[in-house]
Amino acid sequence: MNPDGAGPARAEHDIDSRIDADALVSPYADIDDREVESSLRPRRLVDFVGQVRVREQLELVLESARRRGSPPDHVLLSGPPGLGKTSLALIIAAELGAAIRVTSGPAIERAGDLAAMLSSLTAGDVLFIDEIHRIARPAEELLYVAMEDFRVDVVVGKGHGATAIPLEVAPFTLVGATTRSGLLTGPLRDRFGFVAHMDFYSATELEQVLRRSADLLGVALQADGGREIAGRSRGTPRIANRLLRRVRDFAEVRADGVVTHDVARAALAVYDVDELGLDRLDRSVLDALIRRFAGGPVGVSTIAVAVGEEVQTVEEVAEPFLVRAGLLARTPRGRVATAAAWEHLGLRAPAGLGVALYGDVSRTMSGRFADRTLFDTE
Ligand SMILES: Nc1ncnc2c1ncn2[C@@H]1O[C@H](COP(=O)(O)OP(=O)(O)O)[C@@H](O)[C@H]1O
Ligand SMILES: [Mg+2]
Repeated sequence: MNPDGAGPARAEHDIDSRIDADALVSPYADIDDREVESSLRPRRLVDFVGQVRVREQLELVLESARRRGSPPDHVLLSGPPGLGKTSLALIIAAELGAAIRVTSGPAIERAGDLAAMLSSLTAGDVLFIDEIHRIARPAEELLYVAMEDFRVDVVVGKGHGATAIPLEVAPFTLVGATTRSGLLTGPLRDRFGFVAHMDFYSATELEQVLRRSADLLGVALQADGGREIAGRSRGTPRIANRLLRRVRDFAEVRADGVVTHDVARAALAVYDVDELGLDRLDRSVLDALIRRFAGGPVGVSTIAVAVGEEVQTVEEVAEPFLVRAGLLARTPRGRVATAAAWEHLGLRAPAGLGVALYGDVSRTMSGRFADRTLFDTE
């Protein structure tokens, strides 16, 4: 193996960089988001809305480290995009009063880059590696030695003459963030003392996020306006904040700047985000599935042709939320619209849809949504 670690990036179907972040309801940050997000980020744990369990556990981890006067265990933040992983990483450093170094898996191309970074840390620093599942393998191996033994082995020379020189690393805390914890290797995952699983936010929590953001942005947001936006934000603070900015634009141009319930509804209609947070693509997938193929089952490539999109766009951009919302089921015979999907389009679901779904769906869907799909069905 190349001692510089300049191997090819790990072969995986990583889609993060390919997903369209321009859609209004995409959980990924676009350039606009990045600019505004730094001003909206909660700075301390008390400002961090929701994720109650994670927050409580993290409080204990940080407080005990403070009392011991030594850096806390390494922390892995795992969960879908836009739920606050980067914010939490920054908060961890702030709560510890520690300096933070920020990098990301794809940015660490060679093990040598990581070795240089690690050996420049001072005691108590936080090293934040975003998208840690995308780190190259040789760098990863170096990383877990550093996490466990606070040491890096720097390889000098090439071939038979190569020798490894151990270098000490100051005690630090690694905070890793990942949208795909399943892609982490066992040895890396095992070296995190604390793994925080972030979950989607409730509408009430999103209302709280929106209130806070509105204050920071100086937007006059009424409670029922906030409720309207929260309900369409797909459980994701990043989306809530983005919709708030678009609704504010509308309120300023078409109304008196105040975001009322009616203003929020009118604005989101203009932007094509419906009551469930579906956008045009999501709806056209459901529409094709139901109106052209009688609700399925039908193959994803057929759906893609019908809506004039790439298969990948349908599978990776539209379907995950449709499945999570209990509107679409992936079955071995193809995609099936649930009764909730028919109702969402204002149509009556065919009688017996629940029964027809039962055999296929129970095998392919996980508990929560399977229940919802099956028992919402009449
Ligand atoms: N718990 C939260 N409380 C308040 N705002 C949040 C919270 N989580 C996320 N946000 C908002 O959402 C934006 C995106 O969060 P971020 O930490 O970048 O998510 P991730 O790194 O998981 O993609 C932040 O700028 C912040 O404004
Ligand atoms: Mg992030």
